[in-house]
Amino acid sequence: MKIFLDTSDVDVIKHHFQTGLVDGVTTNPTLMMQAGRNPVKVISEISSLFTANASISAEVVADTAEEMILQSEQYHSINENVTIKVPCTYEGLKACKVLSDRNIKVNVTLIFSLSQSILAAKAGATYISPFVGRCEDNNIDGIDLISSIRRVFLNNLISTNILAASIRNIDRIHDSFKAGADIVTLPPKIFEEMYKHNLTDQGLAQFDKDWKELNK
Ligand code: E4P
Repeated sequence: MKIFLDTSDVDVIKHHFQTGLVDGVTTNPTLMMQAGRNPVKVISEISSLFTANASISAEVVADTAEEMILQSEQYHSINENVTIKVPCTYEGLKACKVLSDRNIKVNVTLIFSLSQSILAAKAGATYISPFVGRCEDNNIDGIDLISSIRRVFLNNLISTNILAASIRNIDRIHDSFKAGADIVTLPPKIFEEMYKHNLTDQGLAQFDKDWKELNK
């Protein structure tokens, strides 16, 4: 049961990394645009925080498999914990197969169906990213999709990791893990919400008050 952060903000990652509870990071071109920095530098800085068995997803942006493979070389040479993220398209899956055959870890992203998951697994993906929130925006049951993928992967002894993405609230973290996700990737704001419960705050306030009373 792993938790990744879904952000390209290095300072925010550093902050949460100190909890020891973050197992990896996912980035995408939109998150890179928000960070407004050189993507190779950003991936370099993030990957240097983590051990070799973590996963830092760096997304390639190109029209052909050949270009994706070429772009991936720069990311792959940074650190062995860098995972190449490709879209679930004809060209992306071609690139996934070539990279996976070279023992390079690939995260196939923008997954919205069981068929796409099956093809990505056959292409050797180490991770597939079903987009739960965006499924729901389009009246697709993203949690049911994760359950179906888990069932098919179990039946066929497929070791590809299910990385639940596009998570917008705490309930979807619970639902994703209950449905069989191996990993959820979270915007930092949602990760922070995981710590919190109003009954913890209330209980703590009472304990602090009583402790002060005792020590008067
Ligand atoms: C995952 O890898 C993606 O970066 C991300 O979860 C997309 O989330 P969004 O649909 O909230 O943009």
